[in-house]
Amino acid sequence: MQKRIILLFGGKSPEHEISIVSARNIYNAIDKSKFDVDLVGISKNGTWYLEKPEEHQNSAFVIGEKGKKIALIPGESKNKLLLLDEGVFLSDFDAVFPITHGPNGEDGTLQGLLCQLDLPFVGPGVLGSSMAMDKDICKRIVQSAGIKTAPWVVVYKHEKEKINYKEITNKLGSILFIKPANMGSSIGVSKSTDEISFNKAIEQAFIFDTKILIEKGINGREIECAVLGNELAEASCVGEVVMNQGIYDFESKYKSADAAQLFIPAQNLSEDEVQRIRNTCLAVYKALGLEGMSRVDVFLTSEGEVYLNEPNTLPGFTSISMYPKLWGESGIKYADLIEKLINLAIDRHNRDNKIKRDRI
Ligand SMILES: Nc1ncnc2c1ncn2[C@@H]1O[C@H](COP(=O)(O)OP(=O)(O)O)[C@@H](O)[C@H]1O
Ligand SMILES: [Mg+2]
Repeated sequence: MQKRIILLFGGKSPEHEISIVSARNIYNAIDKSKFDVDLVGISKNGTWYLEKPEEHQNSAFVIGEKGKKIALIPGESKNKLLLLDEGVFLSDFDAVFPITHGPNGEDGTLQGLLCQLDLPFVGPGVLGSSMAMDKDICKRIVQSAGIKTAPWVVVYKHEKEKINYKEITNKLGSILFIKPANMGSSIGVSKSTDEISFNKAIEQAFIFDTKILIEKGINGREIECAVLGNELAEASCVGEVVMNQGIYDFESKYKSADAAQLFIPAQNLSEDEVQRIRNTCLAVYKALGLEGMSRVDVFLTSEGEVYLNEPNTLPGFTSISMYPKLWGESGIKYADLIEKLINLAIDRHNRDNKIKRDRI
């Protein structure tokens, strides 16, 4: 039977534009003989709009310019999304596919809103999303499950004056990565090698969060693995990001074709290394209570040790994105992957709705 889904994208996040591109790819790839899709964009100020596919395909598309404003109505069994100016409800639908990256989209806040609306949605739930988003909390949880991560210290904006470069380098060494606790796409992330670049990096990271991490630089290969599933999650083959120079920053992720090369699958890894990486990624997924999907990024050191860099709970779905490509290489086509993700969302919603919410 034909299912109706809402593809939700945009949002109040520096990754707003990436999300529009991810949504365009999903829209174009989804099997239209199985799914009807409504496009709902969240503008940069957080307002929801129903958008037309032909507008969304346009590279100059801006959410809210031509769309119809939407009001949300929790507590109803149907009719949860209302076209405000027309007083008409959106047709009933089976699931929401949020492909919103970064703060306000991937950090549990949107997931909480979708729970309040009692809607099945793709990707991890509230707790998993928020723990995976905060790089400090994430590290603490995975460490308690025996998974290695780069040593780090946390600094809050109100404690900025107390930062002591010497003390930090004594503890973590002189190659440091400074990053906002909650962000993505390398926004606000810098490498520092001396006190001047360190101070600049701190300023940069505090633009995007009031909590930042200072991390020891790990000398290792950057390997990524796609995980899919609820209780019985599976790991894809592993891929590698190889930088020609510098760090894997925003530019090399989306803008410059030759700054970074993706190898899918990663080359020159032993079977044992691949298995250990996949097992670590599954262990990260489990420790953080992730469901639906996540791309898990690790470092593999020359000593063969696997360190978690970070999980991404709503990873990029652009045409060059690793998550769908890893599954493609592992035998799941783009359209089938989308279908699986939607079915996982519906399964979880049905499972959780069996939990008793009253005492009788
Ligand atoms: N501790 C580290 N050691 C070495 N490289 C790092 C470290 N932390 C980050 N990087 C580099 O910076 C990039 C972006 O950092 P990351 O923590 O993944 O931020 P984001 O969540 O924005 O993607 C990584 O892909 C990697 O190239
Ligand atoms: Mg990253």
